[in-house]
Amino acid sequence: MKNSFTRLKTLSKYLSKYLSKYLSKYLSKYFCKYKFYSILGLGTALVMLSFKFLFALPAYGQETVTINILMNALEASQWQPFVPQFEAENPGIDLNIIEGPNATNLIEDLYTSAFLLGDSPYDLVYMDTVWAPKFAAAGWLQPLDDRIPKAELNQFLPGDIEAGRYQDQLYRIPVRSDVGMLYYRTDLLAEGGYNPPETFEELQTIAANLQENSPADWGYLWQGKQYEGLSAMFVEVLKGYGGFWIDPATNTVGLDRANAIDAVKFLTATIDTGITPKGVTTYTENETLRFFINGESVFLRNWPYVWREANKDDSPIAGKIALKPMVHAPKYNSGGCQGGWGLGISSTTAYTEEAWKVIQYFSSEEFQRQFVLSTSYVPSRRSLFTDPQIVAEYGHYPELLSVLDNAVLRPPVAQYAQASDILQRYLTAALSGRLTPEDAMQSAAAETRRLLGQ
Ligand code: GLC
Repeated sequence: MKNSFTRLKTLSKYLSKYLSKYLSKYLSKYFCKYKFYSILGLGTALVMLSFKFLFALPAYGQETVTINILMNALEASQWQPFVPQFEAENPGIDLNIIEGPNATNLIEDLYTSAFLLGDSPYDLVYMDTVWAPKFAAAGWLQPLDDRIPKAELNQFLPGDIEAGRYQDQLYRIPVRSDVGMLYYRTDLLAEGGYNPPETFEELQTIAANLQENSPADWGYLWQGKQYEGLSAMFVEVLKGYGGFWIDPATNTVGLDRANAIDAVKFLTATIDTGITPKGVTTYTENETLRFFINGESVFLRNWPYVWREANKDDSPIAGKIALKPMVHAPKYNSGGCQGGWGLGISSTTAYTEEAWKVIQYFSSEEFQRQFVLSTSYVPSRRSLFTDPQIVAEYGHYPELLSVLDNAVLRPPVAQYAQASDILQRYLTAALSGRLTPEDAMQSAAAETRRLLGQ
């Protein structure tokens, strides 16, 4: 082994000796023969090299740092057009957006396993409203309180800021907010002579009648698949029946109360009466949106991004829709689910300052204005709901603000992921008829209490 290594070394020594000897001989011969071209070539190479140093390495001696972030593929494509401007304004930072699957749970799992394995490749964490307590409790995020003045924090919606706090420290800066809304077909309601519904009962009646007497195949679509979107949709129905999931102040679980069981019964009734297809237990936001855009449903529960998609030029329902706050039972108020996405800095990054620059840019008013105009996402800064440019494009944003001011939060507890998992499992059992709403909710409540150590 040692012998062959020594032989290899000797061979390479001879090779390099002869090569350099002949190369230099040929090069000098060539140089003398073609002096003019050689000088021209060398000069061009020098100029190109200095351009590279001047423009590619923004501050001489400063290395370019890559900041990695993971988000769903759709949103990655919506961020991408802003990356060149961010990089131009922040020389020395290369923002690398990694595309993940288009579902919040799957993205959460990818971040979680990266942190559990240690040495996460992500410098920033793009978080759903419900992740911050878990990620902060696990020590995966850096506190951000000292980085942002209180006056600036006050410009964001309080619900979005609260979602980023854990044990009195702030770990997430909101980039965009979100809130569940009820969409309806203005043309079909007008033809049937209906006003938009206020109560669950009105919604059911109008949906059933128009399903019967209009081209729409279905009355009401919502997200029924076993995933986070099911919990988000359910808290709205729960609120509309005066119920609650977990009261964080007292840790009380409300899932087996009569109002919660009524909420489940409303959902099962939509399937049993046929205004909602049985297949709803496989639908996420995306499937329900596609059906709605194809003109197949009178009503749809979804987030505000639907507005732009459904009003695109090639959409068969463009100009034929409106949105309103979720319906409720006569004695109670409605509530849209508070959603949204924000940025936190990973505790393992070597580039905290650069990561913070990304947060500053992508949470700024200027960025959010452009982002909202191009996507119909919801801003996290209060001023933008009445921004003239935004209101000119989306007349309903002032109303979104009042829905957000009364939005329902999913419980901000560190065990949220497991709590949501329990709820999703038992809701699925009830929606598919495997358990009665009563049995499902009693089991869900008991398991949630065990989770919370009660
Ligand atoms: C939206 C919301 C998010 C929610 C998710 C559920 O992305 O912004 O808060 O968890 O939908 O699918």
